[in-house]
Order: sequence, then C-alpha cells, then structure tokens
Amino acid sequence: MMQEIEIRLAGQEISRIAGGPLSGVLRLLEGEKEIFIVCDRQVEPVGKRLMEACEGVVGMMPIVASEEEKDMDTVLDICGRMMDAGLSRGALLLVVGGGITTDLSGFAASVYKRGIRYANIPTTLLAQVDAGIGGKTGVNFESYKNMIGVIRQPVFTYLCAEVLETLPKRDLLSGAAELLKTFLIDNTSGNYEKAVRYLSEGEGDLQALIFGAASVKAGIVARDPFEKDERRKLNLGHTFAHAIEHQARLRGEDLTHGEAVAIGTILAARLSEGLGISTGLSSRLERDFSAAGLPVRCPYPLADLAEAMDKDKKAAHGRISFVLPERIGSVVIRDLTAAVALNTLASSGLAPALCPEKDKDRKGND
Ligand code: GLY
Repeated sequence: MMQEIEIRLAGQEISRIAGGPLSGVLRLLEGEKEIFIVCDRQVEPVGKRLMEACEGVVGMMPIVASEEEKDMDTVLDICGRMMDAGLSRGALLLVVGGGITTDLSGFAASVYKRGIRYANIPTTLLAQVDAGIGGKTGVNFESYKNMIGVIRQPVFTYLCAEVLETLPKRDLLSGAAELLKTFLIDNTSGNYEKAVRYLSEGEGDLQALIFGAASVKAGIVARDPFEKDERRKLNLGHTFAHAIEHQARLRGEDLTHGEAVAIGTILAARLSEGLGISTGLSSRLERDFSAAGLPVRCPYPLADLAEAMDKDKKAAHGRISFVLPERIGSVVIRDLTAAVALNTLASSGLAPALCPEKDKDRKGND
C-alpha cells in the first residue's frame, strides 16, 4: 500500500488519494451500504470485479466515454439510473474510468439529490495524474470543452497501476503529457527528468511518478481549490490545447487531449520566450517531448486558434491567464488577450516553425 495523501479543505470532508492493487480499494469502501458504479464500457471488467467483491454495490452503469457523449444528456441518463436504483442521499457513486467518465459522473453525483458523495478509480494515466484529482467535474457544451460544471472533491481517488496494463499506447502518451506538464510546474525530486527518462527509455518507476504528480496536484488543490490563484498553473499549455482541440473537432480530426496539451505547452514556452520570460526552454521541451513520443507541432494556423481562445471559459474581460514556463519546475501567469499572445508568437518569428501559416492544403470543413 502506498502512502496516502489528504486534501483538507475548510468545511468539507477530507479527500484522500491512495493507491495500490485494485483489491486494496475495498478497505476504502468498508461500511458503504449503497454504492452505484458508473464505469467506462472499455473497463467494464474492472467494474464487474468491484461489483462482485464489494457487498455494498447496488448497481452498475457502463457508459460510452467519448467527447461527443460528454454532455448533459449523459449526466441525465446517469441521474435517471441512480433514481431507478433508488439511491438515497447517503449513497456513494463509484466512478471507474478515464477523465471523461470522472468529469461526467462527478458532475452527476454533484447534482443528484443536490449532491451525493463520489469516489474515483481512474483507469487512464491522464485521469490518475490530473483529471481524477482535484474535483473538477462537468460536460462539454456547444462544442466547447467543459463549459458547464462544478468543482467538488471526490471522497477518494484510488491510483492503481494495474488497471493501466491494458491501456493503449496512445492513451498512455496522452497522460504522459499531463505528467510532464505537472513536473514543469513543480520539479520536486527531479521528477521531470525521471519522467522523460521513463517515457523515452522505459527506465524508472511509473507508479512513483504517478504518485509524485498526484502529490503536486493535491498540494496545489489544497491551497487553491477553486482556481482563484495558484491552481491556474495546472492549466499550463491548456489555453492553446483547448483551441487546438476545438479546431480538431471542427475539422473532424482525431487528436487526444494529451497530444493537444503537449503542443500547447510548447507554444506556451515559445510565448514565454517571445515575452522575454525564458530563453531556450522551448527547444529543450521539443527535444524531450519528441523523445517521449509526443507531438510538438501545431497542425493549425495560429489565426484559427484565436476565436476558441477568446471563448476559453477562463477568459475574463477579453484577457486570458496564460501560464508560461520560466524554467523546468517554475511557471508564471500573465493575463493577455488572445490577440496579443498570438501576435507575440507570430511577430517574434517563433511560431512559423511550429504552425502552418496557411490552411489551403489541409482538408477540413470549417
Ligand atoms: N486540470 C487542471 C485542474 O484540475 O486544475
């Protein structure tokens, strides 16, 4: 059993992060009499194992976890199934799946009967190091990501490396981008270098890296649960990433969140250089990310990212908080308009190497 991390927030139940073999989660479920499992269809065997092993389980709902299905209809379906199962306000919703499943189900738990408890067993690397920790829940709306939702902590998040064994390589890499992002914010114990080594050479201890990233995130969430200040750092690369993902959706192209975060982080490093905050960092990150198997070039022209960046849910009065790396292990936040950010990238001569200038050769429907 790994050490436990606690997120203590005033007036709220402690949110615990624990980990170990899947069977170890039963200890955390002892005494629960009404557990309803929502589980990504792709990991239904994990849900079934829990259902068989845990007496308190009263029902299970497998869901299709896709960005297209991450909407209010699915939240209402989950609420409907919980009603049909007769779940009371004392029930626990146990969520088994990746970030889409934890976002959707955490939101359903937060609104069902004005809120029941929920707990996460993330089954992707991305959800283990990011989405499953910190209580962000919600759905996409009108093609914009996570436009509707609440921040509400799970009672626990259980990190189990065993469930990653069947994860496709591309999904593992998607989580790798969030892992590297986290260590760019806080490089305690040289975890950034250890993560690059693990990803490029297969050397090191993934479970320790997962727990290292979870610890960084838990510390930040405990200090700033509602993203007023420090938590914004966790959005490193995400303003660009959400705009890139929006473009990919419009064009019907296939891009994972982690791939977009990797490209977005490189763009953030380039912007940081354009603003004189750092020097030479983007080349280092490009090398490291490429060695890890992550993409580093933006497939879309910068101009096409502007509209989605303006609609970023974190934009206030036309300004967006850009998280900019200063060096490995340290980031700063600067409030800029999307236009200033994109012009800085374009005029510094830093963008052309990363983004196509024209779109005429690309297929697409926008
Ligand atoms: N994914 C960033 C956060 O949870 O704050």
